[in-house]
Amino acid sequence: MGRFQSSIRGKVNYAYYIGITLIVIIALLNYLNLVRISKKIEFGFVISELFDTTLEMRRFEKNYFLYGLKEDYSENLQFTEKAENIIKNNKEAIEKLAIKADVYALDTDIREYKSLMQKYFEQDKKHAPMEPRTLEERIREIGKKIVTSTEAISVAERKYMQTLIERSQRILIFSGIFLIIAGFFIAEYLTRMVIRPLKLLEESMQKIANGEFSFIPVLSRDKELLSLSKAINTMLVELELRQSHLVQSEKLASIGTLLFGVTHEINNPLSNISTSCQILKEEIEEADIRYKKELLSQIESETDRAKDIVRTVLEFSRAGKKENVNLKNVVNESLRLIKGEIPSKIEIRMEVPDDIVLFADKQKLQQVFLNLIKNSIEAITGKGRFSISAKRVKDMIEVEVKDTGIGMEPEIVSKIFEPFFTKKETKKGYGLGLFVVHNIIEEHGGIIDVESHVGHGTTFLIRLPLKEHKDEQ
Ligand SMILES: Nc1ncnc2c1ncn2[C@@H]1O[C@H](COP(=O)(O)OP(=O)(O)OP(=O)(O)O)[C@@H](O)[C@H]1O
Ligand SMILES: [Mg+2]
Repeated sequence: MGRFQSSIRGKVNYAYYIGITLIVIIALLNYLNLVRISKKIEFGFVISELFDTTLEMRRFEKNYFLYGLKEDYSENLQFTEKAENIIKNNKEAIEKLAIKADVYALDTDIREYKSLMQKYFEQDKKHAPMEPRTLEERIREIGKKIVTSTEAISVAERKYMQTLIERSQRILIFSGIFLIIAGFFIAEYLTRMVIRPLKLLEESMQKIANGEFSFIPVLSRDKELLSLSKAINTMLVELELRQSHLVQSEKLASIGTLLFGVTHEINNPLSNISTSCQILKEEIEEADIRYKKELLSQIESETDRAKDIVRTVLEFSRAGKKENVNLKNVVNESLRLIKGEIPSKIEIRMEVPDDIVLFADKQKLQQVFLNLIKNSIEAITGKGRFSISAKRVKDMIEVEVKDTGIGMEPEIVSKIFEPFFTKKETKKGYGLGLFVVHNIIEEHGGIIDVESHVGHGTTFLIRLPLKEHKDEQ
């Protein structure tokens, strides 16, 4: 048993052998029972023969008494002896059907009947004066008794046969029920020992497919499952290694672009600051106070601009912590933060189900909505509307951020996710908003797409995997 249980194949074989053994045992028991019944049926023929023989015996007895023919007497004698032999040869079996004493009485009756018949015949042959009718009456009486006894035995035999058949029916029904129950237990055993670990394996694989790279635990001691889990775990290590390399190089690439942009973008305010400082240095004594103030506020605003860029970059590169976050709460929070900047002419619509939970960095997700909402507000001139809606699509979440703003030309759409791409005037935007959004969505294993029509509006579609960490809830 121990040897079988170390593999799935062994377990299936084990259950199969148990099933086959049970079926063979039950079939054998039923076969033996049938053999017993067929023997009893054979014996039933013997009993009927005994009854028929006694009837024949009496028929010739009557004929003999009526016509006094010797042939009738010989026939009677033959049947009497036949009955005698049947009883002698089957004594034990007959005794099982009737009371021992009754069988003994039947035996004695037949013998007495035979001798009385003989006596009657002898007297008849010698033409001796007939004994008073008492001899004939005595013979008739014993004959009747013999027939009654054999009939009783025959009835008892039929009853016994009936109970035997009923018992076999019951045995058949019980063995059927037993086989069904045994089958159920065997199936249960197989489910518990084989199918359940497979199901757990499937669940673990599903988690991996959803991007949760957790190792497969030891689900069972089966050879096949152990080597399968080991192979998957090795593959996971390999995959994780490759993924981290990939993420690393992707990160390096985007940091490279960002760095190039940052140096370029910071260079402008820095050179402006530097120029203002030089002028100030040269003209500190000559220039009027208003001009000096103007130069100083230029330095201040250029410093602020450089500070803003640095802040955004720092925020972007901050390592976040992922947790289970409710999407509706995040959207509400973002709206609350930006509400003050939304003109009253803009109508806001929000359709996010209450129960969508994402495994995400709450602050970064909030940043995504803030940046998108900010862009939408800036794109709407005068009256307009923007909406945020979300729905579940299989194991993903689809979030749509839609506005009725100015829209974009296709050439602009192709550039919007690049760092420092902006169509806004210098003071209004740095062109970092959508670059940050794109990176955060990618960091969460999602994708972002955009559709825009000049003069009609823009729709951003975000797809995020719905992978909830139940244990962290
Ligand atoms: N909803 C929108 N409707 C129309 N144009 C948009 C929309 N969102 C973005 N854009 C265009 O894409 C450009 C890049 O957007 P992004 O958010 O990256 O930078 P920005 O808004 O210009 O500056 P920042 O967000 O850094 O303050 C914008 O300048 C704008 O021209
Ligand atoms: Mg923006």
